[in-house]
Formats: sequence, structure tokens, C-alpha cells
Amino acid sequence: MYPWQDYSGRLSPLKLAVFVALFLPALWTAFAFGMGWLQPRPFTEAIHQVGLWMLRFLCIALAITPLRQIVQWPRLILVRRMIGVAAFAYGLAHITLYVADLKFDVAKAASEIALRIYLTIGFAALLGLAALAATSTDAMVRRLGARRWQRLHRLVYAIALLAIVHYCMQSKLNLWEPTIMAGIYAWLIGYRLLVQLVGVRGKLPLAWVGALSLAAPVLTALGEAVYFWLALGVDPVRVLSANWSLVVGWRPAAIVLGLGLAVTAIGAGRALVPVIGKRLPRFA
Ligand code: HEM
Repeated sequence: MYPWQDYSGRLSPLKLAVFVALFLPALWTAFAFGMGWLQPRPFTEAIHQVGLWMLRFLCIALAITPLRQIVQWPRLILVRRMIGVAAFAYGLAHITLYVADLKFDVAKAASEIALRIYLTIGFAALLGLAALAATSTDAMVRRLGARRWQRLHRLVYAIALLAIVHYCMQSKLNLWEPTIMAGIYAWLIGYRLLVQLVGVRGKLPLAWVGALSLAAPVLTALGEAVYFWLALGVDPVRVLSANWSLVVGWRPAAIVLGLGLAVTAIGAGRALVPVIGKRLPRFA
């Protein structure tokens, strides 16, 4: 079966579109590298681009389960494995570029990974992703059995957390996008926790999705304030109050709020569709 085919062997436009899209950031980075647009530190810039996309794909893969439930689009599951495997492939490219930047001095790379904590954390995340990618085939699912496979693949939550910590640590003070990622991660984990607590047949009622979408930005803003307080001694009230103004641009909490509310609104719209569909014939 080709990556663009569904289980019945037919061409799936969704799978084809996602398959092509997954290559685009890598192709763009390779092109920019070749054209010399990533100067003055092309390897570092390429490591950044590829690492960023890796984490974005990881978060998108984690978003598939909530989205297919909220948007009522079960076929989205068809692309989850592909996106997860792409995240791992970008991870391989990320570490290869890192070793290439050290002129392929593998011993130096190994000692850096052992000594620099942010690299050790990134490496642990990559090893975890390798285990998930290696067990992602249908044959491996059958061999492990659905239960053990699912238990193993729950590792993805820890892997994504390690990846976000790695991202935050290497970003030092430029924490705008890492904070957004952390907020999105909080939403994604919160969704799963709430499904366990208040879910109905494994789904989260829309009112709870809305509540989660309000809680995640609050956590994002608090996390950001605590980080700046602990790392730099900045008054947390100052960092928190920056969220009420757009003078310093869109704060991470505002973006997390916007994304959560957009998903909730789409879910509400989607929930109305069958109602409208049922009513239409009466007026027709
Ligand atoms: C799941 C695993 C990993 C993920 C998701 C990940 C993700 C990222 C992200 C998002 C960035 C920052 C991009 C930016 O600032 O624009 C980054 C930077 C970086 N990562 Fe990773 N990474 C992972 C594993 C690794 C590993 C295994 C290594 C090498 C051993 C590594 C080495 C680096 C380096 C050297 C940087 C740039 C640091 C700097 O410029 O000072 N990463 N990574």
C-alpha cells in the first residue's frame, strides 16, 4: 500500500495532500541551503528550521485525536501515522545536520550530547520517537497486540514534553514560539485528561472543550510569568499584565486562546450541521 492510499487501496486525496505537504518544509530548507540564503550560519539555521517543523508535526500528530472528534472528521486518523513518522524523519535530519556542522566528528557530537543537558534531553526524545516509528507498521501493531502497542505509544506525551523542554532551553530568552508550543501542549494533554474525567463515550463534550480553551491560555500566561521570574527575576505581575495589551505584539497566551476558541467554534458549527440538515427538508 502506498502512503496516498486508504485501507481499501483507493487514492485518498487527504493522504496525498498531507504526504506532499510533509515534504515541503524539508525541500524549502534544502533549497534555501543550496541557494546560500541561510548565511551566515547555514547549518545552524537549517538545524533550527528542521527542528521547528519536527516539533510542529509532533504537536499536529497529537492534535489529530481531539480534532477528529471535535470536527467530526474520523478520516483524519488516516494521516496520523504519516505525520508521526515524518516528525521522526525530520528528527533524523536535525541530528544529521548537527553532526555535519561538527564536520562529522561523531565522538565530539556524542560527548556534547552527554555533557549539554538540552542536547541530552533532545536525544532522549529522539530515541523515544525512533521506538515509536519502528513500531508504527501494521505488522508491528499485530505483533505487539493493540493494548501493548497503545501503551508503548503513550510515550509520545513524554517525548513531546522533552522536545518542548529542549526547545525552551536552547531558545534562552526568545521564548515566544516555545511558550505557544507549551500552551498548545497543555491544551492537548488537558483534552486527554478531561476525556478520562468527564468524557462521554471517549469524547469531550463541547462545553468542556470551550472551558479547556479558556484554561490553557491562563496556564500559558502563568507558565511564562513563572519562567521569567525564576530565570531573570522579572516581576511576574509585569509579565502577566503584558497579556492585556497588544503594544508588545500578540502574546503567546492570546494565540493559544485564539486557537482554542477557533477549534471550539468549528466544533459548535459542526454540531449544528446535522440539525440544519434535518430541518431543511421541512422548509423545502
Ligand atoms: C524529538 C527530538 C527533538 C526535537 C523536537 C527538537 C527540536 C528543536 C527545536 C524546535 C529547535 C529550535 C529551533 C528554533 O529555535 O528555531 C532545536 C534546536 C536545536 N537542536 Fe533539537 N530537537 C530534538 C532533538 C535534538 C537532538 C537529538 C539534537 C542533537 C544531538 C539536537 C540539537 C539541536 C541543536 C544543536 C539546536 C540549535 C541550538 C542552538 O542554536 O544553540 N536536537 N531543536
